[in-house]
Parts: sequence; C-alpha cells; structure tokens
Amino acid sequence: MTVRGPSHAQPLRLGVNIDHVATIRNARGGDHPDPVRAAQIVASVGGDGITAHLREDRRHIRDADLRRIQDATDLPLNLEMAATEEMLAIALRHAPHAACIVPEKREERTTEGGLDAAGQHNRLAPICARLADAGIRVSLFIEPEERQIEAAMQLGAPVVEFHTGEYAHATGDARAVELKRLADMAALAAKNGIEPHAGHGLTYDNVMPVAAIPQLAELNIGHYLIGEAVFVGLENAVRRMRTLMDEAR
Ligand code: PXP
Repeated sequence: MTVRGPSHAQPLRLGVNIDHVATIRNARGGDHPDPVRAAQIVASVGGDGITAHLREDRRHIRDADLRRIQDATDLPLNLEMAATEEMLAIALRHAPHAACIVPEKREERTTEGGLDAAGQHNRLAPICARLADAGIRVSLFIEPEERQIEAAMQLGAPVVEFHTGEYAHATGDARAVELKRLADMAALAAKNGIEPHAGHGLTYDNVMPVAAIPQLAELNIGHYLIGEAVFVGLENAVRRMRTLMDEAR
C-alpha cells in the first residue's frame, strides 16, 4: 500500500529504541549484545536519534549504558523516564537531548498506555520545569486526546509523543478511527505550538499511514526493529523502516 502525505509535510525523524538489545544481553548477564554497538549501527545508517528507557527495575538499559551511548555516537539521546525523583536526578546528570516522560508500572511488559498528564499536573510540573531549566527538551508520552494536549500546554512541554498502541492493535474500521484520531491530534498539537511525535507498536506493515501524517516530526520505534534485526541485521531493518517512512511522506 502506498500512502502519500501532503507535500508540505515536514521531515520525519526516526528514533530507534535500543532497549531490547539490552534485554537480550541481560538474559545471560554478560555484556553481549551491546546496545552501544546498536546505537553506532543506527548512526551509521542514518538514524536520527537513539531512544532508551531506563526503567525503575533496570530490566534492559542500565545506568552505565546511558553515558556509554552518549560517548559512542553523536546522535541525540531521547531518555524515556518515569516521573520520579530518582529518574530526574539521572536525567539532570546525563543531560540527554530530550527526556520523554512515560507512565511506568513494575508489572507491565511494556509501556501500556499514555501518561495521564491531565490528572497529574501538580506532580509533573516541577519535574518538567527542572528538566527544561537544564536545557533538556521535555516530551510527554500521551494518548492522542485533546485533554492530554491541553495538559501538555499547561505544563509548557515543547513536545508530545502519541502512544500508537491503540492504532497498532486495532484492525479494520477501528484502525481507521485510531488513525484519524492520531492525525487530528497531531494537527491540534502543531496548531498550538507543540511538536508531535509518535511511537509504540509500529512495524513495516502499519508505519506508513502514521508516517503520512504531515505534522509528525519523529517516530520512535524499537521492539519490531530489534526483532527484525535478528533476521536481516539492524542496518537492513533500520534502512527498510526509513524507506517506508520516506515513501509515505
Ligand atoms: N516511545 C515510547 C515513549 C515508548 O515507551 C516505547 C516503548 O518503550 C516506544 C516509543 C517504542 O515502542 P516499540 O518498542 O513498541 O516500538
């Protein structure tokens, strides 16, 4: 399927989430495969950024990985983090290009839904302010909902990342509904001066309609790319995703 966006679409960056290279490494407790090598490969094939989620339980990326990733590539690091004092201190210490605040539950397998920015203003406000004061670009990982965009505006976040899980898991008409929701909310965010990003559950099969949304400036993709890398290598997996994104634009 070829999906072409309007010609006024802005460039669409690809951030590659390398967490699951660390998941495989940690399965044996050693140092192979190294997520740093993955970051270097992403840089070598034209990826635009590295995304890493330092989870509270350190199930994949570990504290020491962050500095190693920052030292090994010039790509901007997008640190996904829970809104906790511990993670704030780590973010301030490492000064990544961006910090994407995500909801985090210990028992979940992955980030299962968006952050309730609307319901947690008072908890998030000081964290967003301290990140911003340190020159870190704050992003909020939210559901594509008007009230969450309004909350992001009140928090002064320059970026929102829409959780695309509902879209990725939907089929048929329901998927079209979810896609429209993403497109409408991307337009709303952009109209209000917030840069919209998207991610979660994106694959070769479902990325093009999302990539065609003209206001989106960045997609963050992880699990599928690392899974594909097992079969075709990370270079080829990233290149193919990049090609599909470009064709959709
Ligand atoms: N963006 C954010 C904020 C995430 O939390 C995740 C999952 O860790 C992703 C993007 C990437 O999702 P996936 O691994 O399903 O591609």
